[in-house]
Amino acid sequence: MSIWTPSSWRQKPIVQQPTYTDVEELNRVLAELKEYPPLVFAGEARSLKSQLANVSEGKAFLLQGGDCAESFSEFHATNIRDTFKAILQMAVVMTYAGGLPVVKVGRLGGQFAKPRSSDTETIDGVTLDAYRGDIINGVEFTSKSRTPDPQRMIKAYNQSAATLNLVRAFATGGFADLHKVHQWNLDFTHQSEISKKYEDLAEEIEKSLKFMQACGITSKTHRTLRETDFYTSHEALLLPYEEAFTRKDSTTGDWYDTSAHMLWIGDRTRQIDGAHVEYMRGINNPIGVKAGPSMDPEDLIKLCDILNPENEAGRLNIIVRMGANKVGDGMPKLIRAVEREGKKVVWSCDPMHGNTIKSSNNFKTRPVDAILTEMKQFFQVHRAEGTYAGGVHLEMTGRNVTECIGGSFIVTEEDLSSRYHTHCDPRLNADQALELAFLIADTLKEVKK
Ligand code: PEP
Ligand code: CO
Repeated sequence: MSIWTPSSWRQKPIVQQPTYTDVEELNRVLAELKEYPPLVFAGEARSLKSQLANVSEGKAFLLQGGDCAESFSEFHATNIRDTFKAILQMAVVMTYAGGLPVVKVGRLGGQFAKPRSSDTETIDGVTLDAYRGDIINGVEFTSKSRTPDPQRMIKAYNQSAATLNLVRAFATGGFADLHKVHQWNLDFTHQSEISKKYEDLAEEIEKSLKFMQACGITSKTHRTLRETDFYTSHEALLLPYEEAFTRKDSTTGDWYDTSAHMLWIGDRTRQIDGAHVEYMRGINNPIGVKAGPSMDPEDLIKLCDILNPENEAGRLNIIVRMGANKVGDGMPKLIRAVEREGKKVVWSCDPMHGNTIKSSNNFKTRPVDAILTEMKQFFQVHRAEGTYAGGVHLEMTGRNVTECIGGSFIVTEEDLSSRYHTHCDPRLNADQALELAFLIADTLKEVKK
């Protein structure tokens, strides 16, 4: 294989990239970004990798979730806090009811660039570039807004830094203390059935904490009660940006993409000979690869060989996104190939991207039923194959949005228009996400029996 460098991807065919008209401006911005401080430290990426190695061995569960696309307009402390709260709630449900440690990874602090099914969009006879995420162009349908602007990378970096700063403060500054388990419940979910179930569980946890306190185990004495580990991730799509943050770790001499702890390759950019696979093979972060219905088992093995040549546990996460009722056909052959070749991977389920539909009133939506079904099928297939269903990858928000239909606190097609805020794909709201967490917890309990 040829020599890897942070820019060797430039020699390979690439898809899903914007065309910047002002190349000088682009190069100026990239030169500036190369001088900016990294967002994460390589040692943190290594800690995440070792936690993911536990997942691959069936000793922990991976919860990865957040926006489909972060946006400049939704950038607000309340949104970050509420998504963080929703993830904490889900994790506590899975840990307590499911009995396994949960590795928490946000789709945030850099999840801006989006692959699109078409390069252009036409409305009323006018054709413009498709929206590719706020790091590239604007969602507004005007020629100015849709023209890719390199300066947006600087803004995305600054927003990522501020987001990460707040998340780190929440994770270690007392907000994530288990004694606050009641306070993580989001106000707007209070009437729902799932929220009540959460309150009951929080009460039980409080009782256990009181007992532990009596035994001398408190937040003061134990960091794990007081703080949590929280990691960031995004799709490594916009390679010039990722290249600018690819730095050599001074302690090991290895290359890391310091724009996030974990990066993944999307279902549309996983070509074996393509630029994205080339870039990802050289960074030492834990990485993911999406596997949709078109993933061929032999290609998956080739991807494992290229992306994880040392067969290191915790390095590679296969994120399966088949769609409800396609898992039974599509997944066993992937699992069998991986097992046959003895590849170490974390299997996780993205029950979102294979279940997108148009509602009768023309909203892009996802039925919660289909999401729950895909998740259940994912667990069933792993059980039948004797392998470990290691995680879930979700598009979700702590905001009270109405983007996915169904759930225990039912969102109907008519409701979609009331709080539909996503810049890209429909997200689960906190209530729907919590419902999924209870389902996963029940399943984890079963698996452990
Ligand atoms: C995504 O995760 O937002 C995404 C675009 O997924 P996929 O590559 O699986 O389509
Ligand atoms: Co999406």
